[in-house]
Amino acid sequence: MKFEDILPINNVLEFKQKLWFTEYAFRIRKWYNGEKLGPVRIDAEITRQCNLNCIFCVRRACKQDLNEESRRLEMPKERWVELARESGELGVRNWSISGIGEPMMRSDILLPTMKMIKAYDMFGELTSNGTLFKDKYIKEIVDIEWDSVCISIDGPNAKIHDSLRRVKGTFEKATRTIKRFVYWKKKLRSDLPTLTINMVLNKMNYKKLPEMVKLAEQLGADALFVEPMILFSPLAKHLVLGPKEAKELPKYIERARELGEEYNILPTISLVGVDLEFDEKIAKKTNKARKILIKEAKKYKDPLLSIPCYAPWYYLMVRADGTVLHCGEWEEPLENIRRKSLREVWFGEKFEEVRKMVTNYKLPPSCDKCRPNVINDMRQIRRSIMKGGDVTYLQEEILKLIQENTTLRRRLWAALHNKKLNVNELIKCKRELYKIKTSLTYQLMKKFGESRVGKKIKKLFFGRYV
Ligand SMILES: C[S@@+](CC[C@H](N)C(=O)[O-])C[C@H]1O[C@@H](n2cnc3c(N)ncnc32)[C@H](O)[C@@H]1O
Ligand code: SF4
Repeated sequence: MKFEDILPINNVLEFKQKLWFTEYAFRIRKWYNGEKLGPVRIDAEITRQCNLNCIFCVRRACKQDLNEESRRLEMPKERWVELARESGELGVRNWSISGIGEPMMRSDILLPTMKMIKAYDMFGELTSNGTLFKDKYIKEIVDIEWDSVCISIDGPNAKIHDSLRRVKGTFEKATRTIKRFVYWKKKLRSDLPTLTINMVLNKMNYKKLPEMVKLAEQLGADALFVEPMILFSPLAKHLVLGPKEAKELPKYIERARELGEEYNILPTISLVGVDLEFDEKIAKKTNKARKILIKEAKKYKDPLLSIPCYAPWYYLMVRADGTVLHCGEWEEPLENIRRKSLREVWFGEKFEEVRKMVTNYKLPPSCDKCRPNVINDMRQIRRSIMKGGDVTYLQEEILKLIQENTTLRRRLWAALHNKKLNVNELIKCKRELYKIKTSLTYQLMKKFGESRVGKKIKKLFFGRYV
């Protein structure tokens, strides 16, 4: 039996993603009860330099020369690596590296920062246009067990992708990068990182959704993440979905979903938002998000549930020059982290002010650009908070999550007891079990462990398997 056959890694990732919402809710509630905790997630923009010129990119709305400006203002490598270390010590669980540049333009900063993130066993995600990966970088990323790499591809062929990205040969390079990741994962017998194709949905490609699923399958990617295009500049106006396209869209989503099931890349499709309430209305109303956020929050009387955005309690964005924001859409930076520690920034006055503003529905106009998947995140967090209010509900939620993973654990157990497995495979299985054991679920289970449900969880989770 091969390791690939026994560990459905997507299942583990999906499991962790669900846990994060529980974790956000857990920390937000703690904060509300007077115990201030660190952020859960950091989004990092290592550089604002880019080698492409995509028609829909927010860069197109910037007047200044971002490449030149970034070169002048970038935070040095040493501070990035130190920041990664501080975050590990403050209990951060998740780093996402992207921004409005191409992270691989500064591979000299990126790689050491990624290594430090993994040294603290935080979850790491990298989004890239996939055109600048040398083989040695790919090998290193696989080697450190980086969790997730998203390569942006906006069409199933060079004609569509290159014309949106505005540089010839981009499709060829991006698809090659995915293939090389698949090669190194196999060679180093690793199931990480998971490979996702990120697609910006627009008029030119919405009919190609099913073909994109096929492309993901052919390349060996694990998932396809589709995000409706946000309109940043008039240059991309002709790409906005009109009423006719919006009406046709569900048909293509449905077909893509069917194919996803056939090729076993369904989690991808659920990340489009079909399962996470992909809301056609939101897709159409992109650019009017502020109203949606406030309207949804005002439905609730509970002060914790009526907060329109929870980001300032769990999230932090660090830009290439070291400026820090509580959200990527906010225009005014709050602080600069070059000369302040993460702890000073996160618990400082400026962040506290933002928390107050958001609680009082004072969202700035920039919140209109909030992404549909973030709006969905708020709904999920609110739900988790509601469930968390009642310990029984929370326990049931955890139980459900654990039951979803029963198959996984059985397979792990079988693998651990399979004499034919070689040492490397055994180590990997043990490492996965260790990760599950150090998860929030386990911590919560320990807390509620003596209750009836808690005992059931304990038995289910660790019972006879370990
Ligand atoms: C700004 S890019 C930065 C990382 C990298 N340069 C890349 O292209 O993947 C981050 C992600 O945003 C997506 N993106 C770019 N413009 C967008 C838009 N107008 N609406 C939605 N997503 C967009 C990109 O395709 C990419 O997946
Ligand atoms: S590659 Fe990424 S950052 Fe560069 S222009 Fe395209 S979307 Fe923007």
